[in-house]
Amino acid sequence: MRAKNDFEPKIAEITAVKKECSDIYTFSCRLRNKKDKIEFQPGQFVEVAVFGVGEVPISISSSPLEKHNFDVTVKKAGSVTEALFKMKKGGLIGIRGPYGNWYPMDSFKGRNIVVVAGGVGIAPLSPVVEHIIAHRQEYGKVWLLYGTHCPENAIFNARMNRWSKNGIESIATVTKTCDMKWNGEVGHVEPMFEKHGIKADVAICCGPPRMLKDIYVEFNKMGIKDGDIYFSLERMMQCGIGKCGHCNIGRKYVCMDGPVFRKDELNELTEKIWK
Ligand SMILES: Cc1cc2nc3c(=O)[nH]c(=O)nc-3n(C[C@H](O)[C@H](O)[C@H](O)COP(=O)(O)OP(=O)(O)OC[C@H]3O[C@@H](n4cnc5c(N)ncnc54)[C@H](O)[C@@H]3O)c2cc1C
Ligand code: FES
Repeated sequence: MRAKNDFEPKIAEITAVKKECSDIYTFSCRLRNKKDKIEFQPGQFVEVAVFGVGEVPISISSSPLEKHNFDVTVKKAGSVTEALFKMKKGGLIGIRGPYGNWYPMDSFKGRNIVVVAGGVGIAPLSPVVEHIIAHRQEYGKVWLLYGTHCPENAIFNARMNRWSKNGIESIATVTKTCDMKWNGEVGHVEPMFEKHGIKADVAICCGPPRMLKDIYVEFNKMGIKDGDIYFSLERMMQCGIGKCGHCNIGRKYVCMDGPVFRKDELNELTEKIWK
């Protein structure tokens, strides 16, 4: 019998490509082998292979209730993501995973939650919101606060509208309107906590380190304990399964111990996630 190869991907077919904005696309995918499943928890990622080019870690951005089809929402960054952007419906990619830990959704039951996303950081948080909507009665008040630079980069408008209709107070803000039509808020995410009366017990965040640093101050003001603040971190990765050592922060491997970390866990690391 052939030994199990941890690096062998499952083959997935791209069933749709949605241009979210000029440099962010959502790829809807279906595993080619009908027996294959992709059972994941909110916050987990997959290694996406563009054959002949390379592999990249990408969070799953669709509902965790879906077991055979899934979405990845990708920002164009370099060689692999650029090659992915050239792929069309019907193209084949490789998928390994899901990998990494996840947001402990059961431990948030009955509590008020604020979900804060910056830029493409809304992608890994989308399954969090979908999970809450699917179990809406089990959670307290939930806010989604989403910040981007310009209306051009504000993605997932249709999802945000649907989330708003399903009991999530969804607030989008842009730093500048960039002379475009915009119905949402203008300004950084931090003032939105007071403006919208956000009073949460738990904070779930994914975004650029600068934003994480600034919103952490707001969480402190609100009295949220470090043990109730969750950050999803990005690090350079190769294997995704704890073998190559590319993703370590101090003693932690982001691919295995993360990408989701509580703030109190991060306090113990010598390398700081923000300066
Ligand atoms: C757990 C995890 C989940 C992620 N989820 C998503 C997602 O849902 N959507 C998405 O668009 N991106 C996501 N990323 C980031 C994505 O993996 C990188 O953008 C991608 O690997 C870049 O590969 P590339 O070959 O296109 O670019 P490269 O040619 O490898 O790099 C281009 C530039 O991006 C920088 N870069 C590369 N990888 C990373 C990284 N991991 N973190 C920070 N900077 C990096 C490089 O230093 C370089 O400056 C995630 C990363 C991790 C670790
Ligand atoms: S990516 Fe290889 S050890 Fe984490």
